[in-house]
Amino acid sequence: MVEAQLPRIGFVGLGSMGSRMARRLLDRGYPMTVYNRTTAKVEPLRAAGAVREDTPRAVAEQSDVVLYSLADDAAVSDVVLGADGLLAGARPGAVFVDLSTVLPETSRAMSAAAEPKGVAVMDAPVSGSTPQAQEGTLAIFVGGDRQVYAGQTPLLDVLGRHVYLGRHGAGATMKLVANTLLGLGMEALAEAAALGRKAGLDTRAMLDTLAHTSVVSPAQQGKFDNIVRGEYPATFPLRLMSKDFGLVLRLAESLSVAMPAVAVARQTDLIEQARTGGHEEDFSVVARTLQELAGVPS
Ligand SMILES: NC(=O)c1ccc[n+]([C@@H]2O[C@H](COP(=O)([O-])OP(=O)(O)OC[C@H]3O[C@@H](n4cnc5c(N)ncnc54)[C@H](OP(=O)(O)O)[C@@H]3O)[C@@H](O)[C@H]2O)c1
Repeated sequence: MVEAQLPRIGFVGLGSMGSRMARRLLDRGYPMTVYNRTTAKVEPLRAAGAVREDTPRAVAEQSDVVLYSLADDAAVSDVVLGADGLLAGARPGAVFVDLSTVLPETSRAMSAAAEPKGVAVMDAPVSGSTPQAQEGTLAIFVGGDRQVYAGQTPLLDVLGRHVYLGRHGAGATMKLVANTLLGLGMEALAEAAALGRKAGLDTRAMLDTLAHTSVVSPAQQGKFDNIVRGEYPATFPLRLMSKDFGLVLRLAESLSVAMPAVAVARQTDLIEQARTGGHEEDFSVVARTLQELAGVPS
């Protein structure tokens, strides 16, 4: 497809995930305007051909479709609703694609605020981490208007596999369901590994053996090397997993759903954060936390 046929897109939030997704779209020829709060992160995309702007508002003024990948609910509210936010600059007919992990009620609130301006908002949080963002193999969970989704499928194809789940907030809900399993799976692996090591098993032999059983998930197995090496470089930092557990518990409380295991797993994250300040390490660092609590020599 030639560039002139592609919509002009805006991208806000060039963190670990956003920078990689934006780069894929830029490389596919989408004309792009970008904004990031910390301006230094804009430079690689600007050098690759994106136009840099100083506010989300200015990005929206130039864009048919605006994607954003932001840390949390407060960031999404600031960027969308702020005085220099996206809605202040958006043109009627524009589409916002929210790739962030937030509460379903935040997705619905952004959509409700945008509707009177003729702007459609899709929640489209992603599952997978930085390697998948780079390779375009994310799983994308979409909520919002089905027709709006249908119009954005070529763009979403560049980022990964996408599935439409229902009205606004359905994608955000699906993401919290998926991350419940991701986080609990890591807590379960961390506890099992601490037990095995304290009882005298060799770490590599224990994990190699688990790899040949049906009890481990691909997400758990992907963290085995971290546990063997005792190093936890972030693909998905603990601070974001802890945030997501908080969102899960808030949603669960609002619906009177008991989630005792999530409540306990979140405590492990908080212990790690309090003990080491290890917010920027990978969320699999809870394996180290539980081994240390068990007195396992490293
Ligand atoms: N990392 C993963 O593996 C992963 C996987 C799936 C989903 N997610 C979700 O995807 C989203 C982005 O994750 P990430 O790993 O890219 O996080 P990140 O590296 O921490 O990037 C967060 C982005 O949000 C921006 N931001 C934060 N607060 C802001 C505010 N008040 N106003 C404007 N911008 C603000 C940051 O700007 P600055 O650069 O100025 O800080 C940065 O661009 C999160 O919702 C996360 O839960 C992450």
